[in-house]
Amino acid sequence: MEGKKASESFTIMNELVLPNDTNVFGNLMGGRLMYWMDIAAAIASGKHCNAPCMTASVDNLSFKNPIKLGNTVHIEAKVSRAFNTSMEVHLKVWGEDHLHQYRYESNEAYYTFVALDPNTNPRPVPALIPETEDEVSLYEGALRRRQLRLILAGKMKPHDANELKEFLFK
Ligand SMILES: CC(C)(COP(=O)(O)OP(=O)(O)OC[C@H]1O[C@@H](n2cnc3c(N)ncnc32)[C@H](O)[C@@H]1OP(=O)(O)O)[C@@H](O)C(=O)NCCC(=O)NCCS
Repeated sequence: MEGKKASESFTIMNELVLPNDTNVFGNLMGGRLMYWMDIAAAIASGKHCNAPCMTASVDNLSFKNPIKLGNTVHIEAKVSRAFNTSMEVHLKVWGEDHLHQYRYESNEAYYTFVALDPNTNPRPVPALIPETEDEVSLYEGALRRRQLRLILAGKMKPHDANELKEFLFK
């Protein structure tokens, strides 16, 4: 299977924060944002592997700034590395205030998606080819992030996480 460039999966999604999307403080609800991020990540992973994909895990999400009612949510998603049947997707989120013309960071996260065949079994995905400096840096970090999330999910023994151990104890 031929590799695909990271840029081929690049996805931009915009949403307007309406009253029904907000919490009692008039800011976008975290759960609604995670839902939109999940969709953006599903589109990015689908562009990479051209198959239906399922969310396998979401790494820690911390919200830096609330996104206000009436502001636009800007989500960018791109596959940062592909493994055998799974892909790590990197997401960045900003709030945009068009009236006052400024943009503010909301959060950044990694979602893992698995490509599925028609019988809903995991199927192989193309390798990812990083090109820019940012893409290479995300690609290199993806192996130890994968090891950490598989350890936390009880699917890998810490003893086997060589790259993560090397990073933590160098
Ligand atoms: C994700 C899922 C398809 C993986 O299937 P599985 O039977 O565990 O298959 P495997 O153990 O062969 O794992 C397949 C891939 O998923 C990855 N994976 C499994 N669990 C994972 C987790 N918690 N975090 C990250 N990756 C995970 C594996 O590392 C493997 O990747 P690789 O082939 O690139 O090495 C399966 O667990 C599932 O269907 N989960 C429910 C997903 C779901 O419902 N999502 C929507 C949320 S409501």
